[in-house]
Amino acid sequence: MLTLLANAKINLYLEIIGSRPDGFHELVMVMQSVALADQITLKPLTTPTIQILCDHPQVPTDHTNLAYKAVALVQKRFPNRTNQRGGVEITIDKKIPVGAGLAGGSANAAATLLGLDVLWQLGLTRTGLQALGAELGSDVPFCLAGGCAIATGRGEDVDVLRHTPQLFAVLAKYNSISVSTPWAYKTYRQQFEHTYLNLGDRASLIERRDRLHSGKMIEAIAAGNATKIGTHLYNDLEKVVLPAHPKVSQLKETMIQAAKDHSGLGTMMSGSGPTVFTLAATRQQADSIWQSVRQQIDDTDLALHVAPFTARGLVTQPR
Ligand code: C5P
Repeated sequence: MLTLLANAKINLYLEIIGSRPDGFHELVMVMQSVALADQITLKPLTTPTIQILCDHPQVPTDHTNLAYKAVALVQKRFPNRTNQRGGVEITIDKKIPVGAGLAGGSANAAATLLGLDVLWQLGLTRTGLQALGAELGSDVPFCLAGGCAIATGRGEDVDVLRHTPQLFAVLAKYNSISVSTPWAYKTYRQQFEHTYLNLGDRASLIERRDRLHSGKMIEAIAAGNATKIGTHLYNDLEKVVLPAHPKVSQLKETMIQAAKDHSGLGTMMSGSGPTVFTLAATRQQADSIWQSVRQQIDDTDLALHVAPFTARGLVTQPR
């Protein structure tokens, strides 16, 4: 048996640059792991079966689960190991909100890949794991790497930054509202395609990327300047998700006010949403923001968490 903690991520920055020939979007993102984790337990099976156990009503336990797909991919790529070892039973203890823009499914897939690498002694390199991860989803390579990173391309091209800011995120999500990532990108394309850069024009693409690499968010992170990190939060997908979900838009306004009242640093939606987060420099400030939002929105449908930034995407638990 092997147990891992798979951390959620938030996007400190998400800019949509243009369309790619593969139908995806060219992105520039800054991703950050936060210590809000699903627990993933892998138990070897002697037959080549893949069994997913999860008691969360919104998590599928069939072949559509990303952890299932991760095992199937490894079985396909390593047929000899599969013949020797068989299959695996994966138990997912879900703590990361589902359909939330927090990469919960991708984190589960990342934990499954790393877990199988250890259990089945596949001897995969970091690059090998990342390449397998990229086949499963754009956020999986980041979930394998963890920490604070610039992610470009589809999001799979991950460049981990040396320092993880020591901040706290207050995360808020209505349980009853989920956003489909394909819907968010499709709607963005419908409304903003005229702003896309021509990706054939490498010069303008590189120029735009370079602006981010030397950009204000990266500078703020490198300098450990919490105030500036809060100021430079950015997410293009807010433009389509917030108008479609007025309740989330209202939630963001409530969090902006709570941040003003309790020294919060900035508020933004994560990924394709609908999770909204507020950053704080200390646990105490984060707790005050949590309390203030809870007082304003006394609704059991609203899940609220305080999660510190962490340098790890995955944590292997001692046996
Ligand atoms: O890679 P992943 O499976 O997480 O992507 C989900 C969907 O989000 C894709 O099918 C695509 O519609 C959209 N997407 C995109 N551009 C990206 C990442 C995701 O258009 N860079």
